[in-house]
Amino acid sequence: MSSQGFDDWVRSDRFHNSFLLAPDADLDFALQNMADNGLPQIAVSAAQGKFLYLHARAIGAKRVLEVGTLGGYSAIWLARALPADGEVVTMEVDEKHATVAQASIDHAGLASKVKIVRGPAVDSLAALPSEPKFDLAFVDADKRSNLAYLLEAERLVRPGGVIIIDNVVRYGRVSNPADPEHDGIDSQGVRRMLEHLKTDKNVDATTIATVGEKGWDGFCYAIRL
Ligand code: SAH
Ligand code: DHB
Ligand code: MG
Repeated sequence: MSSQGFDDWVRSDRFHNSFLLAPDADLDFALQNMADNGLPQIAVSAAQGKFLYLHARAIGAKRVLEVGTLGGYSAIWLARALPADGEVVTMEVDEKHATVAQASIDHAGLASKVKIVRGPAVDSLAALPSEPKFDLAFVDADKRSNLAYLLEAERLVRPGGVIIIDNVVRYGRVSNPADPEHDGIDSQGVRRMLEHLKTDKNVDATTIATVGEKGWDGFCYAIRL
């Protein structure tokens, strides 16, 4: 097999996207708005965003919980999957990120479907009542709190609902705690969550590793039992 690397993964994502994703002015606006305001370029990729959208449609989601809004890119994908009376509740600690996200969500005509909750997500989650339940949760904020977010998502997602956690592979670093240079606080948070999942009776989960425009990473996919 020839050697494979980032350039190949980017080309492959773009090739597939050229058949499967239409040009999209509202998503382009959101990406440009993020770049113009100096937000980090760490939103889900277009293909991942469409996966979240298709998945929300597949399960007939009406209520979606997101932890980590950034510039609203994934929230826009998710909101588009919902019926007119559906809602994305998305949590963001950074005021600037939340303000940029709100503008892009407004621009996309989705203000009525997306509620941005500002502040540290551990506090915002704790303040959410257990009813009405969510159909889908997308956890994509600071990785050191992943276990706390998972446990709150388990409380808030209905049986049969789905919890997806982003960035659980991180170029394989999560699986290599012996490498001190790359054993950051982020990977430790992912490992703590995985350790918990080993005996967690509330969910059944698997990790799907991915390569593409965002490098080598992966989603943890869990169903609420
Ligand atoms: N889901 C977004 C990307 C999120 S990036 C997308 O795909 O478009 C992670 C976001 O989590 C950042 O905006 C960061 O500010 C936010 N974040 C970090 N720590 C947080 C916390 N404690 N509470 C809420 N949000 C947090
Ligand atoms: C980072 C965070 C993310 O949520 C992501 O998808 C990629 C990178 C980061 O903090 O570097
Ligand atoms: Mg992420």
